[in-house]
Parts: sequence; structure tokens; C-alpha cells
Amino acid sequence: MVLDTQRVDGSMVSRRNVIVSATAGVAALVTAGAAGAARGTDAGAAPPEATPAPGHPGHTGHVHPAAARAVKPFSVRMPVPKVLRPESTKGDTDLYVVTAKKAKVEILPGTRTEVLTYAGMFPGPTIRVRTGRTAVVKHTNGLDIGTVAHVHGGCTPASSDGFPTDTVAPGKSRDYTYPNKQRAATLWYHDHAHHMEAEHVFRGLAGFYLIDDPAEAALRLPSGDYDIPIMLRDARFDDKARLVFELNDFEKRSTILANGKPQPYLPVAARRYRLRFVNASNLRTFTLRLGKDTQVAQIASDGGLLAAPAAIRSWRMMPGERVEIVVDFSRFKVGSQVVLNDADAGPVMRFDVGRSATADTSRVPDRLSTIPAMPAATGRRRIVLSFDRSTGRFLINGRQFDQKRVDAEIKRGTTEIWTLTNDNSGFAVPHNFHPHLVQFRILDRDGKPPAPGEAGVKDTVGVAPGETVRLQATFGPYTGRYVYHCHMIDHSSTGMMAQMKIV
Ligand code: C2O
Ligand code: CU
Ligand code: CU
Repeated sequence: MVLDTQRVDGSMVSRRNVIVSATAGVAALVTAGAAGAARGTDAGAAPPEATPAPGHPGHTGHVHPAAARAVKPFSVRMPVPKVLRPESTKGDTDLYVVTAKKAKVEILPGTRTEVLTYAGMFPGPTIRVRTGRTAVVKHTNGLDIGTVAHVHGGCTPASSDGFPTDTVAPGKSRDYTYPNKQRAATLWYHDHAHHMEAEHVFRGLAGFYLIDDPAEAALRLPSGDYDIPIMLRDARFDDKARLVFELNDFEKRSTILANGKPQPYLPVAARRYRLRFVNASNLRTFTLRLGKDTQVAQIASDGGLLAAPAAIRSWRMMPGERVEIVVDFSRFKVGSQVVLNDADAGPVMRFDVGRSATADTSRVPDRLSTIPAMPAATGRRRIVLSFDRSTGRFLINGRQFDQKRVDAEIKRGTTEIWTLTNDNSGFAVPHNFHPHLVQFRILDRDGKPPAPGEAGVKDTVGVAPGETVRLQATFGPYTGRYVYHCHMIDHSSTGMMAQMKIV
């Protein structure tokens, strides 16, 4: 299907031919990018956005014509972002200090790229906390534009949650208080300045925020050097290695970065590893598999451990989502090179298996956690995600974000079922959904129960064109104003966001 689509990105209007093919079913996604490439459409006719089709044939190892600077895959080592040390500690509170600033970092080998950073690092330093200990993070804005920090997946008082219009002016600081009264999970923090979050995150304002708890530690999952967070994303560079940001520029963001390096390698020992993936892309969905469809154990999703490990051979991650797996590299011969592949982008990174110096005492128990029971729902809401062809806008329930309008008023502590529908009548494009404050459970997708990897605790969920997903959440314990939005953040930054008020 060829559509002629007009859209508005802030003040910019563009008109392009768009090739869209949507297929039915749970995995149905817009295949515009892949279809365009397959049919020889040139990059200039790229769709305003697209998400790779999972398993689309013939696109593994696909070389994107728009890649301005070729990087030899697996030529740089993947770093692990350094864990930030508290500046001071008082009772059960740790104080961290982070300054956002510009920095020039080596992303593409032999060149330097100006990025926006937390603390000079790309990605930012990892903040690692324990359940029950309060973290106060003093964010100083050393940039020349307003910023506001948000911990994605955090159950945070409204004043510290990073409401998009609650920005910190250049040169100013703010203390964000995170009570961390929630289970162990892989969270991440990123900028949320309204209209700017897409560009700010694209240019580097993102880092890991990990919560540990004793119940998880008692499981003896791989830990320490064998517990590795991996932030995946795409990026677009010009021929001078500068980052190029354009809204909805999916097709040209063809360089894949893992912890800020293009298709890196990582030496690993022949033993078990815990790998914590976050998809920090603005628009790209990853559909990943390891080596020749190696079976791995998915142990966690957005909100922490699953009830039991799920044996998987591939996993799909939309922007904002996290998936944690345990891989036993002892199943490979010493000297093996095991590639992590994406269904559309091809090689993402490579694990180089070496000898194990010490015995592996880690394990993956059959039972991982107890997923908290869901209280009975007393409220229901419908959320429609759409694109309006006449105005070129991405909408929630037919509207764009307005900080002065409360879209949902919810009594604190109540449980609601939200029915999310991706109304693809305007433009068949995937969306996803992320509410602040709460972790939720997915009840069903088009009436079918969620896959094991989605059956745990979640804070971000993909909704394919035409699909309906029902989720259930308990809203609290804090009151105040929070946003919910599409986490394809080129969409949210142009208004695909709404506001709930917990009263
Ligand atoms: Cu990653 Cu509003 O969130
Ligand atoms: Cu969030
Ligand atoms: Cu969207």
C-alpha cells in the first residue's frame, strides 16, 4: 500500500511517499523500512517512521545505504558504564551528583563526536541502588537548554518524577528524591524535557538505574563482573562523525550502538552471564537472537524478575523496554565468537568466549519470584493511540499533550484496567505505551494471554497496528500529576502524551 502522508513535526511540514505493509496477527508491524529497501526505494523516500518487521526474510546483515561512515563490525570493545559512587551517605539516604554537559567522545573508531552526557559519559553512569535505600540525585544542568530527569520504571513522588514541563534551567540544579520502595529491576533514566526528549535522548542523555534487593541476591544469579547492562540503540552519523537528529528519521538511523559503541565485541568467560538489555532507541524495535538461535533463559522484564525463567530463542524489544537473560557461554567452545543479531539491522554485537578462570557457582532457579497479586479492578479506561492524517499528528484519545489538561483523574490506590488500541486507520505504525509511576500486568493481547516473557511486571508495552492490549495497574502510592505516553519518543515529543492526576 502506498500512502501519501503529510505530517507536522513541531513547525516542520513534510510530504513524502510512504510504503506501508501491515500484516495481521500479534507480530504485525509496519514493515515500511524493510519493504522500502527490498523494493529499491531510495532513502529519500523513506517513511516518516517504521519499525523493522520481526523475522522479515532477507534482512539479516542488510547493509543500509544511508550509513555515511562504515565501521568494521566487532572492532571495538564494548564498555560497561561505570557505576556512580554516592557523593555522601546519611542514614538510609545516598546522595549522588550528576551534571549534564556536552562532551566529545569516541563512538566511531578514530573520531570524536559531540554528545550530550550525564557526567561526561555516553551512555551516562549507572546509578545502582538497593530497595529501601533512598537515593537523592542532584542533577545540575550544564547545557544551554532546559532538561528534566526521569527514572523510567521508577515509583517516584510526582515532584521528582520528571514532569515534562518541570524543567531545570541551564546552570541550575535540582535534587530528585527516589525512595526505591520497589522490587529489584533494571530501570533507566533519561531526559524528559517536553518537545526535546527525543533529541536529548538521541544525543546521549540516558543511563542505567539498577535496583537490587535481597530476595534477588539470594537466588545466586550471575553477579558482579558477570552481570552486564547493555544499552542498545540506533544512531545516525554524517561523514564527519557528527550525530544527525531529525524527527521520525527511522531509516537513516542505521548505526547500531551497544553501550555507546558501534557493533562492539565483548570478551566473556565460558560460564553463565546475566545480560540486562534496554532498548534506548527512539523508534527502533529490536528482534534479537544469539548465535544460531541459541536458547537462553529470560529471567526478567521491565519491572524485574519473572515468576519463572522462560526459555527463548529470540526476543523483541520496543523502545523503553527491558529484557534480561542468562546465557551460559560454557555451551560454546573456547574461542567461539557468538553474534547477537537483530532481525532487521543484522549484527548488534559479538561475544568472544574465552576460558573461565574460576568455577561458576551461579544458577538459574526454577522459581525466580512471586509476582504480586492483582487487586480487583474498580475502574476502566480506553486509550486510543492514533495518527491523524489531516494534521499529521500522533495522538492519544484524539488529543495532543496539554500540560493544563488532566486526561485521567484516578483515586490513589485504586486498580484499573486500561484497554489500549492502536487505531491504525490514519497510518499503520506501531506504538507503545508507558505510564509513569506504575508497573502493570498485561492481561491480554487481542484476547490472547501474554507470552511468558510479557507475563511478569511491565511498564512499557508495544501495541501493533490494529491491536488491542489490556493492562491492569494499581495507581499509587503517591498523588500528583504524571504523564503516560508513547515511548517511541519521536512521537511523544510531538505530543503523543497525556496526563493523569492521582488524587
Ligand atoms: Cu522512559 Cu516517560 O519515559
Ligand atoms: Cu518513564
Ligand atoms: Cu507512537
